[in-house]
Amino acid sequence: MPTQLPLLPYLEAETSQRPADFIPVYTPWLGDREAEYVLEAVQSGWISSLGKYVVQFEEEFSRFCGAKCGVATSNGTTALHLAMHALGIGPGDEVIVPALSFVASANTVVYTGAKPVFADVDMETWALLPEEVERLLSPRTKAVMPVHLYGHPAPMGEIRAIAEAHHLWIVEDAAEAHGACAGDRRTGNLGHVAAFSFFANKIITTGEGGLLTTNDEALAARLRMLRDHAMPPEKRYWHEEIGFNYRMTNLQAAVGVAQMARIDEFIARKRRIAELYAEGLAGLPGITLPVEKPGYTNVFWMYSVLIDAPFPLTRDEVIPALRQRGIDSRPFFHPLDTLPPYLSETPQPQALALSRTGLNLPSSPRLSDEQVDRICQAFRDLAG
Ligand SMILES: Cc1ncc(COP(=O)(O)O)c(C=O)c1O
Repeated sequence: MPTQLPLLPYLEAETSQRPADFIPVYTPWLGDREAEYVLEAVQSGWISSLGKYVVQFEEEFSRFCGAKCGVATSNGTTALHLAMHALGIGPGDEVIVPALSFVASANTVVYTGAKPVFADVDMETWALLPEEVERLLSPRTKAVMPVHLYGHPAPMGEIRAIAEAHHLWIVEDAAEAHGACAGDRRTGNLGHVAAFSFFANKIITTGEGGLLTTNDEALAARLRMLRDHAMPPEKRYWHEEIGFNYRMTNLQAAVGVAQMARIDEFIARKRRIAELYAEGLAGLPGITLPVEKPGYTNVFWMYSVLIDAPFPLTRDEVIPALRQRGIDSRPFFHPLDTLPPYLSETPQPQALALSRTGLNLPSSPRLSDEQVDRICQAFRDLAG
């Protein structure tokens, strides 16, 4: 019998109050294959960053994206930082980042010594506005970081045109959008380099984990070297410059390889769940549903809605009302330019409006049709 370890006190409190039919916002979908590959990695003794699964995961995930090279990292944050560091972004430089994103998008720019410059986002796709990129260009702009927020790709055609005209790097923050497409190209193959996250709530997970994709083989080699304390593969313990330990373990990658066997199934199920939500929430006054712009494939990482008048409850009132019905939800991110480290007197208005009304609904591919129906029914009840 495996020993049941106690949960941390706050987790205990969180989970003990949950009714049996509680619907969390996300649960990873792990199975026998994950357990088998991890066991194999343990039995092989290759539990750190050497071992067959790391290379296999890099190859399989980058092939899935349609990119030539994959470089696995310890998480999505280290992936973003490594990418910008490897591109030579540093003090005195500016990187244009959407104001509505997870804080890692901005923090990783600061880690390099550069400055994040916050751009407003589109009211429909919630992604970076190309005209904002143009507005914020300065002689110091070195890169733009489109974020495929909650699963809808940023407008990459326009962003690529601006980047080409102004010689900017495009660092895709694709943490939330595994398998999403702009045209016939998947995220991870839409800029110079892309960073993915495999945190437990992502479309596929490795527990903690990240990966960079690029079509630039020289950049990939540099990313690999910098990931490993800037040690050239041919000269052990020789460090040409200051690097990092941002390596992924073989244990994480074992989970990742197992997850890759199901990535298409997870995405198909998430898109089906989005259809079910769209049918179940259709016509509710004050509820705005997420879009899929023509020419794009949204993977609906977090199926999200905007809640505003004439809906009788505000977004902040809906969260506890759903919770009372055993349904978890999450408010949208705070705009980055409203957070203490990045506080602006004039935060980007559309990001602010979305942040006040946006709500992430349960989105795991494990959700049953009945659970989605229960969530939609809860919204209909609240609508009165
Ligand atoms: C948009 C975005 N960027 C970056 C990250 C960072 O990834 P990680 O949590 O793996 O460090 C996340 C993670 O949630 C994210 O949502």
